[in-house]
Amino acid sequence: MSQTAESLSTDAQSEICEALNQCVAETAVTTMLAQNFHWNVTGMAFGPLHDLFQKVYEDHFVAQDDLAERVKALGGHANGMLAGMVQASKVAEHDGYATAEEMIDTLAKAQRTVASTLAGTAAIAEKHGDLLTQDLCIARGQTHEKFAWLISAHIS
Ligand SMILES: [Fe+2]
Repeated sequence: MSQTAESLSTDAQSEICEALNQCVAETAVTTMLAQNFHWNVTGMAFGPLHDLFQKVYEDHFVAQDDLAERVKALGGHANGMLAGMVQASKVAEHDGYATAEEMIDTLAKAQRTVASTLAGTAAIAEKHGDLLTQDLCIARGQTHEKFAWLISAHIS
């Protein structure tokens, strides 16, 4: 049966919010990853990569807000501490010392990791009948898989 924020059980709400906070953490770490690469990329492809990495971090910055605000709409707590997000995230921070190819590889892998976490969160939301969270996570997952292709196409 379909559920809304108001009709979800406390257990369902807390499981969905925990999964969404994981999505927020990984989206936030990947935002910084893309911005760090935007700043530090070098080489003949500087122009297009500098621009593409900006598109990525601008998209992710909006997305982390949408995901965190879905947590709030469900009555949960949005975990906004940077240290906590870095610790929870399956995407690791990067110091930005890398070749353009290494940046492409790292950022494409990060996109696939976040897409997988979002797909898992969509499945948790579906299990509880929370179609609205499911829809948000599916849309975000599709965007990350599209970015994985856009980024990795530079070297494949
Ligand atoms: Fe910039």
